[in-house]
Amino acid sequence: MTHTILVTGGAGFIGSNFVHMLAELRPEARVVNLDALTYAGNLENLEPVAKLPGQRFVHGDITVPEDVERAFAEARALGGALSVVHFAAESHVDRSIQSGAPFVTTNVLGTQVLLDASRRHAVQKFVHVSTDEVYGSLGETGFFTEETPLAPNSPYSASKAGSDLLVRAAVHTHGFQACITRCSNNYGPYQFPEKFLPLMIANASEGRPIPVYGDGLYVRDWLYVRDHCEAILAVLERGRAGEVYNIGGNNELANLVLVRQVLAALGKPESLITFVKDRPGHDRRYAIDASKIRRELGWTPRFTFAEALPETIRWYAQHAGWLQRVRSGAYRDYYARQYGSA
Ligand code: NAD
Ligand code: TYD
Repeated sequence: MTHTILVTGGAGFIGSNFVHMLAELRPEARVVNLDALTYAGNLENLEPVAKLPGQRFVHGDITVPEDVERAFAEARALGGALSVVHFAAESHVDRSIQSGAPFVTTNVLGTQVLLDASRRHAVQKFVHVSTDEVYGSLGETGFFTEETPLAPNSPYSASKAGSDLLVRAAVHTHGFQACITRCSNNYGPYQFPEKFLPLMIANASEGRPIPVYGDGLYVRDWLYVRDHCEAILAVLERGRAGEVYNIGGNNELANLVLVRQVLAALGKPESLITFVKDRPGHDRRYAIDASKIRRELGWTPRFTFAEALPETIRWYAQHAGWLQRVRSGAYRDYYARQYGSA
């Protein structure tokens, strides 16, 4: 049976990795990718798959019902069962501290617009990609489970929690077939270099200082993006509607430890570490209990940090042009060059 998957935010970091993975693991699936191409969206990320049959790109905004309708029309035209995987979001905590309103617009309003259209188009399964940050911060011990109360601390995580609650409401009120996934910090190819790992790889490669917030002892659980994408596919295909699934990498590291590993891998001196003013409201520690998705769907991370970190560092070295175009802003000309003014 044919299957069409409407992906939102597929020109971003995780979305583009997901689209690549679909082309590899589910080549028969058709993909419609709805993306507004904000500063974080980069069509170059899709170059490896863009020309494959069954791949469509729709330039549009999830907060604009007409744009969402265009994407659904494209998906309906491809035929078969229809599902949605929703990545599109404003995703960077530091930007949300500077200005929260775009986060509410895209993450909260955009999710509702998408839910309304998905119900109208009788979508069979909707996967909402969320974050462990909705649970707030942990002390030195313990893990987030799916039952941990929501206690978001940043405008970003508060807007993601808002979107999670709207998905929950659609399930409860309308019997909508949706799952929510909450994952830890991703790393891997195509990550926008405002996030810590690509930022430190880019700076270290150029011998520039690496800004470490506060005492550098903040802990994150690092998840390889390919593992995350495979977990989302498992939820899409086998997740129980109405359920939340936590996804983690079993790989907690303090920021300073991570920086030192990257510097060592690149053969750069620790003197590049520069302590800077802390992020306001900085969550101390995130850690995920991913036993539910392991038990119910048989998913567990396949990649160890020891193999995936060097692989990631290698990817950025081999894609110096990509990194340079993203850092200089030149990637934004790509759409015009490739597609004219369409
Ligand atoms: P990203 O910032 O790299 O990409 C976001 C994509 O969404 C971009 O392509 C952008 O153009 C698009 N977009 C933004 N606003 C839009 C709008 N209004 N309409 C249509 N498209 C729009 O983000 P990412 O890191 O790939 O994250 C993807 C999802 O995963 C997000 O929902 C994020 O909250 C969640 N998440 C990310 C991480 C992580 O470590 N990166 C961790 C947990 C959860
Ligand atoms: P980030 O990649 O922004 O992800 P998140 O805030 O969603 O976890 O940051 C990861 C960690 O690195 C977080 O503790 C903040 C810290 N950090 C720095 O120390 N320096 C930086 O320049 C950035 C961007 C983040």
